[in-house]
Amino acid sequence: YYCAVSMILIAYLLGSIPNAVWIGKKYYGIDIREHGSRNAGTTNMLRVLGRRAALPVFALDVLKGFVAVALLGLLKYDDNISDIWLINLKIIAVFAAVLGHIFPVFAHFKGGKGVATLVGAVLGIHPITVLLCFGIWFIVLMITHYVSLSSMIAGCCFPVFVLLSPKINHSVPLVVFSFVIAALLIWTHRKNIDRLKKGTESKIYIWRPVAS
Ligand code: G3P
Repeated sequence: YYCAVSMILIAYLLGSIPNAVWIGKKYYGIDIREHGSRNAGTTNMLRVLGRRAALPVFALDVLKGFVAVALLGLLKYDDNISDIWLINLKIIAVFAAVLGHIFPVFAHFKGGKGVATLVGAVLGIHPITVLLCFGIWFIVLMITHYVSLSSMIAGCCFPVFVLLSPKINHSVPLVVFSFVIAALLIWTHRKNIDRLKKGTESKIYIWRPVAS
């Protein structure tokens, strides 16, 4: 029990590592939260500082989410824990890591929107649904060039893929979890929704040269 609680706490602390803030400050001398969309995430790093800044942020944000959930895998060697409980604990770890990313204890509780961290964390539970969501994300981005809209639509497809997937055991916590994730992504993108309505959301053209 104590082991499980400590792992959830570790998931929150891992999620709290503010890669965008630290990389922006250390290598570029800026707080990314004062520039562009003011979001501490990959898209804003790309927008403000270019690909060389954005790629490590994306990789590290995905990695911290993945590790936060993968650590729970160690508990399967504990005979007292059932598979169902392990999945439930992993679900709690996903939330802990993503909440850490959105409200990081190491960066005055002002972090990002949770997309890359969610990708890593859910990869540790159901990789196929993450790949399907990535496909949707990519298609919407190619058509609209709005990363925020792509992230929200991919997030809303997540519960649909969970429900449709024949390989997934449709436990109530898992289905509820998938809908809460979709709602959480809409909530973290609320300022983007305002900008999309006003027509002021900035577009991203990933193949075009940007600052490096
Ligand atoms: O992952 C965040 C992305 O969906 C939107 O970022 O900087 O355009 O608000 P941004």
